[in-house]
Amino acid sequence: MRSKLAFLAMILLSQPGIAEPVYTSAEADRGEALYNSKCASCHGRNLVSKGDPPSLTGEPFELGWVGKSVGDRFAAIKETMPPKEAGELPDQTVRDIVAYVLKFNGFESGSKPLPATKEELEAINIAK
Ligand code: HEC
Repeated sequence: MRSKLAFLAMILLSQPGIAEPVYTSAEADRGEALYNSKCASCHGRNLVSKGDPPSLTGEPFELGWVGKSVGDRFAAIKETMPPKEAGELPDQTVRDIVAYVLKFNGFESGSKPLPATKEELEAINIAK
């Protein structure tokens, strides 16, 4: 039974698109505060930036996030952002911020937090 459920979860996760909620509202709430303190100065309070840095909503979200995996976006943020602290944010901080970006762009929260491993994060495709 257990393995059947795990198998079903894998199928759901490997489908194109986020078939079921992948983050919790607690993550997104923490992510909002973290985003505002660490990212908003460049990417904008409402995820719309004014200059060089890409906005994280609207068309730039469609181009930069949709069609990629959560793991890809996690890695991009973890490895390069914020530029002066590249590679320094704890994984949980990055997951929380990713959850907030997904929430801001209309994805629903649920009861399961974002998974912890790279492989599981990479299995979640961002599609609308
Ligand atoms: C000092 C300004 C600055 C801060 C602070 C900052 N960014 Fe960026 N960010 C940029 C610039 C400039 C780019 C575009 C150039 C690049 O990719 O390095 C960028 C690119 C990105 C990208 C696209 C990267 C890619 O490879 O697709 C994402 C996602 C992102 N930032 C998220 C964040 C998040 C989340 C935070 C907070 C943890 C953050 N940024 C903090 C300036 C900033």
